[in-house]
Amino acid sequence: MTKEKLIVALDFPTLKEAQACVEACGDEVCYYKVGMELYYSAGHEILSFLKKHHKKIFLDLKLQDIPNTVGRAMRVLTRLKVDMINVHAVGGLKMMQAAQESARQEAAALGIEAPKLLAVTVLTSMDEESFAALNYKVPIASQVIALAKLAQEAGLDGVVASAKEAAQIRAACGKDFLIVTPGVRPAGADTQDQSRVTTPAQAIQNGANYLVVGRPITQAADAQRAAREIQAQICEGSL
Ligand code: C5P
Repeated sequence: MTKEKLIVALDFPTLKEAQACVEACGDEVCYYKVGMELYYSAGHEILSFLKKHHKKIFLDLKLQDIPNTVGRAMRVLTRLKVDMINVHAVGGLKMMQAAQESARQEAAALGIEAPKLLAVTVLTSMDEESFAALNYKVPIASQVIALAKLAQEAGLDGVVASAKEAAQIRAACGKDFLIVTPGVRPAGADTQDQSRVTTPAQAIQNGANYLVVGRPITQAADAQRAAREIQAQICEGSL
């Protein structure tokens, strides 16, 4: 089951490149994240492809709008029958409640399990300086905890956050709350535009349920090997 903890971000502009990555990763990866770039260019095709290959899907579209609009969007996204979907927590309690209600109602009408709903807290690319420039007067960690509690109050299943804040989220929201952490880099790897990074083992030890990894796998010369190494580090962290 630890293999499911690794979610590979298919950040590609075309279906062809995404398919090549899935094929290269083979059995090492069973969970994929489809974000804006790929969804906007080849959404339906990539979802069908992943389902045909029995892969799980996290649809990372980070919805944020007025509650009515997000609720209506979530209703149609639920029909795509993916495993996980997210919204921005800064959209507020009512927006998250609308998302949760719509997903639950639509799933019940379809007779399917509702997708897990996650709230994005503070992007892992943010550092304290860029966060403060948004006029927030608190450290990132306290904003992350406040947003995680709000997401839980709205009935969401969990949050997307940096593994640096995972232990505090776990303490504040309990053992059943899902924590999905991007910003994961194997020791010594390039951090690119990510700021609040940890290694795979650290992320698991801090209480993350799922790790989202993109470029360290998708840009590797041997994607399967890169995935296998990260899977080994996840196992190490789980011991
Ligand atoms: O290539 P890299 O491993 O940095 O990719 C991380 C992925 O996780 C990207 O697809 C990015 O959009 C996503 N993500 C993130 N931080 C968040 C939420 C999602 O980096 N808070």
